[in-house]
Amino acid sequence: MIYCKRNSTQSPAIKSNSPQISNIVSTIVFMKKTSVLFLAVGTIVLFSNCFKKAHPTAQKTPAEEMDYAKTHYTDAQRTTGKGLYEKSCGQCHDLPLTGDYTIAQWDGILPKMFEKSKMGYDDAGLVKAYVIYNSKK
Ligand code: HEC
Repeated sequence: MIYCKRNSTQSPAIKSNSPQISNIVSTIVFMKKTSVLFLAVGTIVLFSNCFKKAHPTAQKTPAEEMDYAKTHYTDAQRTTGKGLYEKSCGQCHDLPLTGDYTIAQWDGILPKMFEKSKMGYDDAGLVKAYVIYNSKK
């Protein structure tokens, strides 16, 4: 009896609360959607960073590329790059002449070839500095 009475007094209260409940539910749904969005954006940012690290070819103009090769690397480092280039880049085809291609052309070629030669990020940076420095003028 008591149980039944409680139910009958409670049910109108629940009904009048239901718009609030649906508000809460839609807020939770919204929060879930937002967090999924943040997760997706975060994942993209994370992977784009990984991708950049695999290929040291950030978007630069040819003039900026040359400036970078000159100022971020020493003569000794570019010579190390030359050695790596001669060791790694003539394995599958004749060693190309750095002066056969312009900086813009090398920008298109190098990421593919760094992948083919399985060169690490730092070595690729040294090779790139050497190649860009000695590219077609
Ligand atoms: C595992 C084999 C392999 C290695 C190692 C390799 N290459 Fe290549 N390379 C190729 C193949 C295959 C092609 C032609 C097809 C293509 O462009 O993918 C090529 C093409 C080229 C070309 C001509 C591209 C064009 O568009 O005319 C150049 C320049 C070049 N490679 C430079 C390099 C440099 C620099 C390295 C060292 C960082 C290197 N390659 C290492 C396989 C390799």
